[in-house]
Amino acid sequence: MENKKFYVTTPIYYASGNLHLGHCYSTVYADSLARVKRMQGYDTFFLTGSDEHGQKIERNAAKAGKTPKEFVDNIVNGIKDLWKLMDISYDKFIRTTDSDHKLVVQKIFKTLFDNGDIYKSSYEGLYCVPCESFFTEAQLKEGKCPDCGRDVELTKEESYFFKASKYQKQLEKLFIDNPNFLVPESRKNEMFNSFIKGGVEDVCVTRTSFKWGVPVDFDPAHVVYVWIDALSNYITALGYGKSDDTLFKKFWPTEVQIIGREITRFHVIIWPMLLMALGIPMPKQVHSHGWLTEKGAKMGKSTGNGFNPYILVNRYGLDAVRYYLLKEGPMLEDASYTSERFLNTINADLTNDLGNLVSRTLAMVQKSFDGVIPAPVKQEDIDNELIGFANNALSGVLNAISDNSNTQKALEVIFDLVRKANKYIDETTPWSLAKDESKKERLQTVLYNLCEVIRIVSVLLQGFLTVSPAIIFKKLGITDAALTTFDSVKTFGAKISGLKTNKGNNLFNRLIIEDEMAFLNSEIEQKKEKEEIKVEEKEQKHISYEDFTKVELKNAKVLEAERIEGSDKLIKILVDLGYEQRTIVSGLAKTYTAESLIGKTVIVVTNLAPRKMKGVESNGMLLAVGEDDNNLSLVTLDKDFKVGSEVS
Ligand code: MSP
Repeated sequence: MENKKFYVTTPIYYASGNLHLGHCYSTVYADSLARVKRMQGYDTFFLTGSDEHGQKIERNAAKAGKTPKEFVDNIVNGIKDLWKLMDISYDKFIRTTDSDHKLVVQKIFKTLFDNGDIYKSSYEGLYCVPCESFFTEAQLKEGKCPDCGRDVELTKEESYFFKASKYQKQLEKLFIDNPNFLVPESRKNEMFNSFIKGGVEDVCVTRTSFKWGVPVDFDPAHVVYVWIDALSNYITALGYGKSDDTLFKKFWPTEVQIIGREITRFHVIIWPMLLMALGIPMPKQVHSHGWLTEKGAKMGKSTGNGFNPYILVNRYGLDAVRYYLLKEGPMLEDASYTSERFLNTINADLTNDLGNLVSRTLAMVQKSFDGVIPAPVKQEDIDNELIGFANNALSGVLNAISDNSNTQKALEVIFDLVRKANKYIDETTPWSLAKDESKKERLQTVLYNLCEVIRIVSVLLQGFLTVSPAIIFKKLGITDAALTTFDSVKTFGAKISGLKTNKGNNLFNRLIIEDEMAFLNSEIEQKKEKEEIKVEEKEQKHISYEDFTKVELKNAKVLEAERIEGSDKLIKILVDLGYEQRTIVSGLAKTYTAESLIGKTVIVVTNLAPRKMKGVESNGMLLAVGEDDNNLSLVTLDKDFKVGSEVS
């Protein structure tokens, strides 16, 4: 008998900064698989979490003037909030700072050491801190990190190494015997040919140059390499190595590990070898999806072009964003994101196709049958064609994602049915049937069929969208949960006649593309502006007296001030310092009008390097106090002094 369990994982997300729309892809995709499997009756476990150790996080915390733990706690709350926003139905959120996870990582490390899989030596080579990855000179691309293109650092330290070479043959066999271990095919070939075939090198598995990690308990100068710590989450989350390992026994191995393409090497080389060394069975499949790109580059915080999922969800609704990611996302290879494409997809599929089907049908049920779904009388050929289509929809969806990947194909099956139903309306013309009393039975049949198709569509959509299905059920008057299951759509013809419908509001409103483009572009602009005027983060909490004396502060008088066009914050200000006049751009416009600044005495940082904002060069900074841009107070003097006097 088939074992009906399903364990799906996402990567654990770096707790180093805000996540963007690209990050949402791995989780929304895994969430969808989990939802479909639950509906199929699989005992499902869906794991996600946060990756909280390592040099990058230690440095970012220091920059923010926080302890690493304070820093990650704050970021992890943000990650959890984002998953709430995206309706991610995870069963467990693991944090690598969880004490039980750390204990098991130490245990794993010790086991590997005791078994002779780990030995002590020293590491000299190149390290990319943002990717937390080691590289050899030959692996660099034009002297930079081959994964993210940033600078690498020369590192030399005493380290423990994992004897990867010992597992070379076993790893090759894993790939050869299991052609579906890694999908897509293109990535499999790349990994096998570039990284495995030529021989894997031993992996450096500890660091001594920083502290923020899981300490090696028998040699505490070392912390476990963050990738060993992070990859272990997939088994520690299930209780591996703990007294209660029921979940591990039940759910391991994973049916599918969803990851993005830049972390494939870790998941199909280091991770399997670690499992081999521990004598644990392999994951059944690793699905390495592409990147959501913007203007040809990986969407990401560091490229400065990430798009904020909050803005999209708040304006267009969660289903619009989930639909876009699952239909247009980087399922296998990269997929480019543009606001225009996003908006057009909503209009075409959700507003025109799905929204219209529901509103047209329910309006006709309302008009002809007082909103009560009629009973079918006699099905004709044209009806049977639609019914045949509807009967195949469930298997179409399940076939599409039978290899845990094709959400795009699955949505196409559902929306083909939606389009077929719209065509059926055009062909059966229920509005003209309604005009002829003798065609009442025909009208009953047509409208029943349409309501039943809408129900089937809604049942199937539950695997992908999390808002509209419930709304559609409500509109159809469905309260019986049995009418919302996969079982209930195996055969067309559920007992829904007699239900009282409620047309209500439109499911999706038609978007005016130009207006929405203007809105989204202004959001992107505002974000850039915020970054431009954000004072650079301090490297340390305290600065030396010497550093302080480097800052040149002087009093000045505002001579001229004008708003900068296209910005709701920036004002261009001409100040008199006595010995010279200068232009300074300041983010005061939400509190002060330009005119009200003229004549004011202000304090200016005069030796800041010039920088351009909105095309205007700013030569200094005005000091102001305030909680936010809407409530600022300029720092000024309570006595008149000669302009250009030193503030000390
Ligand atoms: N912490 C590691 C994973 C450790 S797993 C043991 C990590 N974290 S991450 O926060 O940088 O990335 C999390 C997921 O988001 C990865 O699957 C990554 O590929 C994905 N994405 C980040 N930017 C992305 C796009 N622009 N497009 C699609 N997915 C992308 O890596």
